[in-house]
Amino acid sequence: MSLIQVTNLVAGYGAGAPILRDVDLSLQQGQIGVIAGPNGAGKSTLLKAIFGLLHIHSGDITHNDQSIIQLRADQLVQQGLAFVPQEFNVFDSMSVEENLQMGAFIRSDDLSDSIDQVYQYFPPLMEKRKQPAGQLSGGQRQMVAMGRALMSNPSLLLLDEPTAGLSPLFMEKIFERIIAVNKSGVTVLMVEQHARQALEIADIGFILVTGKNAYTDSGDALLHDDEVAKAFLGGVSTATYPQT
Ligand SMILES: Nc1ncnc2c1ncn2[C@@H]1O[C@H](COP(=O)(O)OP(=O)(O)O)[C@@H](O)[C@H]1O
Ligand SMILES: [Mg+2]
Repeated sequence: MSLIQVTNLVAGYGAGAPILRDVDLSLQQGQIGVIAGPNGAGKSTLLKAIFGLLHIHSGDITHNDQSIIQLRADQLVQQGLAFVPQEFNVFDSMSVEENLQMGAFIRSDDLSDSIDQVYQYFPPLMEKRKQPAGQLSGGQRQMVAMGRALMSNPSLLLLDEPTAGLSPLFMEKIFERIIAVNKSGVTVLMVEQHARQALEIADIGFILVTGKNAYTDSGDALLHDDEVAKAFLGGVSTATYPQT
């Protein structure tokens, strides 16, 4: 059984022409899934559709085999989904810790254990916890955004370009943290521009082009596919030039 499954999805913004024109995606519990593809392909739109923010023309999205296309984002949070959008994903004027508390708006229990766990995932946030999130570096702000999402105890974390604008060093750190979160039992579905690096940590990859699936395969198989490498990974596949 898939944790999340998208079938023949046609969806868009309001009454306009659909952006997603027939998308399929399936992710098992415990996996890391990566959505890649050129700018404007509909990657962010797909995450927003899963999170209940789009107009669905046809097709279905199921979570634990139940259709969720009628549900609103707040109801999906109750069901265990959490979403970190591409931009404006932290409250700049609020402290790191206040951002984390905001992420727990659906909970009425004690938050201290969850906050401590976020600091374990993201140690740099601990010493900055009283600082306004707006003063943090890009990488640390991304950590706040992910930490905020984790505060609702999600089983499925949707991440839109968590490494956008970060240096390669910070990118590696964020990927490391995503792996740690995944190892603790959270299924991850993320959009990434750094497709090659992201596919290296992916169980399954979905390459979208103009609102449709172009390639779907294991991360490894996509990395070793010459056509995929040429068109989407900025050159030759790892099969031709093994990376050292
Ligand atoms: N809020 C919106 N309203 C209308 N159209 C949008 C909106 N957001 C994105 N789009 C359009 O949807 C298409 C796909 O965008 P997007 O999903 O953001 O692409 P990607 O994330 O793959 O770069 C683009 O043509 C974009 O202009
Ligand atoms: Mg996008």
